[in-house]
Amino acid sequence: ESVPAVIVAIDGPSGTGKSSTSKAVAAQLGLSYLDTGAQYRAITWWMVNNGIDIADPAAIADAAGKPDIVSGTDPAAPTITVDGTDVAGPIRTQEVTSKVSAVSAVPEVRARITELQRSLAASAAGGIVVEGRDIGTTVLPDADLKVFLTASAEARAARRSGELKGADVQATREALLKRDAADSSRKTSPLAKADDAVEVDTSDLTLPQVIACVVSLVEEKRAAR
Ligand code: DC
Repeated sequence: ESVPAVIVAIDGPSGTGKSSTSKAVAAQLGLSYLDTGAQYRAITWWMVNNGIDIADPAAIADAAGKPDIVSGTDPAAPTITVDGTDVAGPIRTQEVTSKVSAVSAVPEVRARITELQRSLAASAAGGIVVEGRDIGTTVLPDADLKVFLTASAEARAARRSGELKGADVQATREALLKRDAADSSRKTSPLAKADDAVEVDTSDLTLPQVIACVVSLVEEKRAAR
């Protein structure tokens, strides 16, 4: 018999293990996977490459419809292209990371990317795990399961500087807190926990523990319907 599609929203600030967790949960359960941060990074990369002034929200709004952003949703090999160019590497640079909050605060950018996200979620046959900042609150308010991952600033900075080999923990911590503050305080769909989201503090959990926790939450939801 076929299992009905399940929609899972995973939100939270940077460094909480969102991407690793979401990818692994999707792979284990045979679901599609969408990294919405990669989409905001991709549109930011395009703006930078096309000489759009990041300090000018009107210029960003005008250009928001131009790039063609395509996400591949296989959790084993997620992909992201802009106008056919693979940008998986270039969207992780410090330049893009430092500019993505400003670009993603522009309402026209959010409207454009949100539409892409909803259409991918609607067309994912078996269901999908969508990770981001506003998935449970704005993008997919009817998701079957909403998870909000948190972790102490110390744990998040330590994880991020581990990923960015050799990066200074203190500098990483400051950059990360600054980006979270910007993402949480913007007017249009800020980083926020949905009222009906399950909060999981990952500070003292290993990645396999967080994955197991979310997998069992999905299975509970599936069993309940
Ligand atoms: O998850 P990440 O660090 O790759 O996300 C990059 C930025 O994209 C993040 O600082 C804020 C923005 N973002 C957003 O505004 N809404 C989302 N759903 C996902 C990311």
